[in-house]
Amino acid sequence: MAGLELRGIRKDYGATAVLKGIDLSIADGEFVVFVGPSGCGKSTLLRVIAGLETVTAGDIHIDGTEVTRLAASDRGLAMVFQSYALYPHMTVHQNMSFALENMGIAKAEISARVDRAARMLRLTDYLQRKPAALSGGQRQRVAIGRAIVRDPKIFLFDEPLSNLDAELRVATRKELAALHAEIGGTMIYVTHDQVEAMTLADRIVVLNGGRIEQIGTPLDLYNRPANLFVAGFIGSPRMNLLPTELVKGEAAGTAATLGIRPEHVEPCQEAEADLTVRIELVEQLGGETFLYTTGPNDVPLTIRCDGQSRLARGDVLPVRFSRDHLHRFDAAGLACRPEPLLARSPS
Ligand SMILES: Nc1ncnc2c1ncn2[C@@H]1O[C@H](COP(=O)(O)OP(=O)(O)OP(=O)(O)O)[C@@H](O)[C@H]1O
Ligand SMILES: [Mg+2]
Repeated sequence: MAGLELRGIRKDYGATAVLKGIDLSIADGEFVVFVGPSGCGKSTLLRVIAGLETVTAGDIHIDGTEVTRLAASDRGLAMVFQSYALYPHMTVHQNMSFALENMGIAKAEISARVDRAARMLRLTDYLQRKPAALSGGQRQRVAIGRAIVRDPKIFLFDEPLSNLDAELRVATRKELAALHAEIGGTMIYVTHDQVEAMTLADRIVVLNGGRIEQIGTPLDLYNRPANLFVAGFIGSPRMNLLPTELVKGEAAGTAATLGIRPEHVEPCQEAEADLTVRIELVEQLGGETFLYTTGPNDVPLTIRCDGQSRLARGDVLPVRFSRDHLHRFDAAGLACRPEPLLARSPS
């Protein structure tokens, strides 16, 4: 296994700049997740690392060795895509062993690797089946197995679970976490799924328009987003962002925008309210309730309540923001630092 270093990576397609200067160090054994809106360059960055795309500028180092101009097959990486791309006429065993045979690895060694990967991925009973006779989750596990047997320096995953239904996604996500714990490999993983990013990542890289907005542990990004983009992107439902002039009194401070997550807005007495809102929609999920409301000037505000709620559309509600969880952003959209965030306010 190996670490990865990207320095000043740029990628243009003709006149279009897709990656605009990416600097990133990934430690040996780290699980790093790339997130960002559609079209921000996640897949392009992964393909550049894999060697499936050339770079326009910058360089790539794996384990301290420059690989920028090495062919994909010489970089020692393995990539797993959203589409499993299994060979339909081959059995699971053949799908996993095919590349190793081409590499000239001895038969006994191939068998040992396939058996080990099959055991890890609970595919042992399916080794003689063809892909058509497997479920989506089993097929994706074969695709992951095909990567594991190659014993790559780094695993690259591009939205590997997005074709699976909700239940299989959860199950396969847990398997991936267990797999990372077991083999300890360096993994780079692209996803649109907030839960996958939060639960799998040692660190999350938030990309936007071909640039890195912020890098940090999942809770770093959740608790201390560096700017409005990350604040709005990490967390579901998203953080409420309000123009400060709408908020009464001391909560606002000198910031231009105030951020508050739905779980940090509490219904309260009129006298202590930061805002008064009108409920537009109530979503009862059983264990929690989301209130979608509007405040002054129709500004939207989402509130998360524990358990079940008797509130209904049309109700008017005074609400207060938890003082320990306010996020403040300046006119340029950058977090005002130092933040009193998560620190107890002096009483
Ligand atoms: N071969 C290409 N030629 C021209 N433009 C391309 C090419 N490949 C990708 N792009 C453009 O580069 C941008 C980034 O694409 P990329 O596939 O990396 O996005 P992404 O972040 O993976 O998006 P998604 O979340 O939808 O998968 C897009 O605007 C895309 O249209
Ligand atoms: Mg993509």
